[in-house]
Amino acid sequence: MNAQITIALSKGRIFQETLPLLAAAGIVPADDPETSRKLILDTNQSDVKLVIIRATDTPTYVQYGAADLGVAGKDVLLEHGGEGLYEPLDLCIARCRLMVAGDPDHRPRLSRPRIATKYMNTTRRWFADQGRQVEVIKLYGSMELAPLVGLADYIVDVVDTGNTLKANGLAPLEHIADISSRLIVNKAAMKMKHARIKTIIARMAAAVGA
Ligand code: ATP
Ligand code: PRP
Repeated sequence: MNAQITIALSKGRIFQETLPLLAAAGIVPADDPETSRKLILDTNQSDVKLVIIRATDTPTYVQYGAADLGVAGKDVLLEHGGEGLYEPLDLCIARCRLMVAGDPDHRPRLSRPRIATKYMNTTRRWFADQGRQVEVIKLYGSMELAPLVGLADYIVDVVDTGNTLKANGLAPLEHIADISSRLIVNKAAMKMKHARIKTIIARMAAAVGA
């Protein structure tokens, strides 16, 4: 009997953009997470299940082996640190840039400028590496609001078209990293279920290349 394979995906852009790559590996979900309330989805392969979780939780599920594989943004992986994971494949989906952004005309407070972000670790590292003293404020979303209401001088967030920044009178200021989503694999699962996981990676890699 084949080993059971569990793949962790978040709803929205990662699920949608991973679908064709999974299909190339012969895996087709039985339900649509946008309409189904199920958190564990069967697929056309009796030995493959999908678990539907928050984007920021994906590395945690894979690290602890609750999922064998997952798809996570590099922004989320940088923040998580990557412990217990392999990152064998850049899926080249959900591409964006992690940026420092703000009002270019804003004069930051002189002592320690405040940076609002959901990327606490990456933000601290970015400023510390340059010897710049900042206060980092944790938010869970709508980062663009923070400079508009005086909560922060700048934000660190992902930028794609730049439309969200522009609509709020903000601009990208510093480029921290290019971001795309990665296939991640639990380290123990990579050993125990090697053949099955290698096949999935190879088929997805071929689809990315095409
Ligand atoms: P959560 O709210 O669960 O913390 P999220 O809202 O960031 O997660 P998504 O919006 O689905 O979840 O984003 C998933 C990943 O897609 C992000 O981690 C990032 O790598 C990438 N991403 C986010 N915003 C964009 C965007 N506007 N364009 C392209 N890729 C993006
Ligand atoms: C992300 C991010 C920005 C926005 C950037 O938000 O937090 O707010 O996308 O994209 P842009 O540069 O193309 O405007 P979120 O995923 O919540 O929004 P989205 O689904 O509208 O991209």
